[in-house]
Amino acid sequence: MRLDKYLAQADVGTRSEVKKMIRCGRVLLNGVPAKKPEQKITKEDIIIADGKEIHFSQYRYFMLNKPAGVVSATMDKNDTTVVELIDDAHSKNLFPVGRLDKDTEGLLLMTNDGALAHELLSPRKHVEKTYFVRVHGKVTEEDSAQFAQGMDIGDEKLTKPASLTDIRYTGEDTELYITITEGRYHQIKRMFARVGKPVVYLKRIAMGSLRLDETLTPGAYRELTEEEIFSLKNRNN
Ligand code: URA
Repeated sequence: MRLDKYLAQADVGTRSEVKKMIRCGRVLLNGVPAKKPEQKITKEDIIIADGKEIHFSQYRYFMLNKPAGVVSATMDKNDTTVVELIDDAHSKNLFPVGRLDKDTEGLLLMTNDGALAHELLSPRKHVEKTYFVRVHGKVTEEDSAQFAQGMDIGDEKLTKPASLTDIRYTGEDTELYITITEGRYHQIKRMFARVGKPVVYLKRIAMGSLRLDETLTPGAYRELTEEEIFSLKNRNN
């Protein structure tokens, strides 16, 4: 691959920016300043730009704090999609790992790594997903017990055990965290509807080992760190 293309794909800068960097001697190829943007490189070459070694992976991983009003799809006729929230340069081939409802906010992993997405979404893997929820009405201990046992929400099978934690009453509503290991359609809303407490706000805060970075405002995103990618791939939960 050409050096300038490699650097642009590794997000060092735009194609014209990296060309300039090369011409200014800011890019080292195996320890010596690279001479030409069109120079060909191979996997064995060590490339350093502005003092930082550049690693290129064909896979990209982003966490998005999904805002309400945006759909978890790659294309939609009527609504803005989560892919459209990611900058053009990155968005190629990215797709959301699973779906959040249009009115749900929070953690959505966006990647082009189909194998990892498959692992995280496989029903057999029981990946834990935690949500902050506000429901109308008072969630009781009996409700918690029902969630823990598994519930009939009109599907063929009962839901898998779900845990409710940090239950807090706020006037007529209850705020709490719920952890589920499945990803059925409208699952949390249907579970709370079953106990007569409609969901008024829902935000995903964790998926497997990945936690939403609370510094991301709704609609903002960032690339996962190496550690976050490693933990997701080597998960033991
Ligand atoms: N459960 C729901 O009801 N909605 C979501 O978006 C996610 C889980």
